[in-house]
Amino acid sequence: MTELKWWQKAVFYQIYPRSFADGNGDGIGDFIGMIDKLDYLADLGVDALWLSPHFPSPQFDVGYDISDYVDVAPEYGTLDDFKRFLDGAHERGMRVILDLVMNHTSHLHEWFIESRSSRDNPKRDWYIWQDGRDGGPPNNWYSPFGGSAWEYDEATGQYYYHFFLKEQPDLNWRNPEVKEAMWDATRFWLDLGVDGYRLDAIGTIFENPEMPDQRSNMTEEQLRSTFKRGFPDRPDKKLIELWRSIFEEQVEWDGVHQLMQELRTVMDEYPDRVLVGENDDVKYYGNGSNELHLAFNFPLMRTNRLTPDWIRANQQERLASLPPGAWPCNTLNNHDSTRVYTRYKDGLHDDAIARTALALMLTLRGTPFLYNGEEIGMSDYYLTDINLFRDPPAVWFYYGQVADGLPPREALELAAIYSRDRCRTPMQWSNTPNAGFSPDDVQTWLPVNPNYAQGINVDDQQYNPESMLGFYKRMLSLRKQTPALIDGDYTPLHETAEDYFAFTRQSQKSGQTCLVILNLSDKDHNLKLDDLPSRQARCIFSNHKLEDEKVSLEELKIAPFEIFIGELVR
Ligand code: GLC
Repeated sequence: MTELKWWQKAVFYQIYPRSFADGNGDGIGDFIGMIDKLDYLADLGVDALWLSPHFPSPQFDVGYDISDYVDVAPEYGTLDDFKRFLDGAHERGMRVILDLVMNHTSHLHEWFIESRSSRDNPKRDWYIWQDGRDGGPPNNWYSPFGGSAWEYDEATGQYYYHFFLKEQPDLNWRNPEVKEAMWDATRFWLDLGVDGYRLDAIGTIFENPEMPDQRSNMTEEQLRSTFKRGFPDRPDKKLIELWRSIFEEQVEWDGVHQLMQELRTVMDEYPDRVLVGENDDVKYYGNGSNELHLAFNFPLMRTNRLTPDWIRANQQERLASLPPGAWPCNTLNNHDSTRVYTRYKDGLHDDAIARTALALMLTLRGTPFLYNGEEIGMSDYYLTDINLFRDPPAVWFYYGQVADGLPPREALELAAIYSRDRCRTPMQWSNTPNAGFSPDDVQTWLPVNPNYAQGINVDDQQYNPESMLGFYKRMLSLRKQTPALIDGDYTPLHETAEDYFAFTRQSQKSGQTCLVILNLSDKDHNLKLDDLPSRQARCIFSNHKLEDEKVSLEELKIAPFEIFIGELVR
């Protein structure tokens, strides 16, 4: 059996730089702040950090609109600060991956400034330019961030294509010069020692080159209404179908897998790096070794309740669909989604549910990705003033709804729930004004969630083993010491159980087998697990039983919301 790679064993932790730690007191997170928190992260017990974009950017899409791929946003610090951060993480045994945004640049990137300067500029073809049709845009394509996907450019009388904001023009990946330029930028950070990349929005890199109209022929109002129904957070099958039909010609188009193979070749020039794709399609694993190392299992998170049925069905489908040798990758939240605490809460057992969600992440087969703040139980925060919103699609949604006739108060409530600002508020470090993120009197770039004053902050939890943070630390440390939770095969048990999710993880290599039971209900249960090769298990983790307690598998009592991890004893 081959030795697992570091990224197969690691727990990743996503840092959203703007909201993590403000070291210079200007209301915005930065590298000085992140460096200062490296000890905290090492103590938490995560193994790798993913940084959302830290590059210079006019911040129309909070950094996902990059104006220079080989530098650091001045408000976050300097390249030297970055290097100190990277070295500091490495010294503490943590890897660092960056965000690679290939689909588009900022409209203020010098490539685009050149491209738009004249029709015969050598970089004209680095972006996607088209003539208009009948006095309007070239076709009926939309941007999911609002309105037409085409922007008219006065200076040269043509339209450019942008899948996201008009401040995010799409690069033309059919032009080999674009590839070379982007691979140079990719190598720049790899040469500095970064450990890999999370690939942004890869599904949108290519579109149909014939550029036919979308068959769906929706109005903008209809498009907006899909967001009201919960997209992209909680899509039901119908909504997914609808979404596909709206963007059919613009996403998952030919060429992308070939491109991922080329990128993999670039990565393979460096030993031991990782690529993880923001896309749930297992096709991105290629043949298991020639495209991405990981692709997020997003379908798992897309529900309001993590029920045993939901998880079992997800695992069955996901694991069966991976190509040989491919490694799963699980997550329940990120900077675009609802926070895990908010999404799965029931109003009665919120804390207990959040704990089972972490236990799920750390016991399922695959690499887990956590999102900053979840370890202290941070929840979504709904803004109450449209002027404080920073997420552009939410602002588009709000004004559009008002124009469509919805009373502003209702439109605001909806926009606040839908806005990605909800999960991007500053990290809560202490029970002081601004939650210790910035000095008391500074206005932070997004408001701080006032629930920092109710114990949702690092300081109040740090030394309390019963706190959410204490729980995260305990579970993270357990996972590290338990080979079966890392390399073990997954076998579901009691597959019709409606309240609890039970399974084993059996490690061929170490010989260890763990029994995991997550009671996702408020009922207790008496389980009979007599088809296992042992009659007894030694408790290695439980929020109800004693560690090292031997339990009988013929009659295993499980408390409401109990998380039980036992090692089978022979
Ligand atoms: C990805 C990012 C998201 C961003 C979009 C456009 O989905 O996660 O935050 O808005 O790409 O770059």
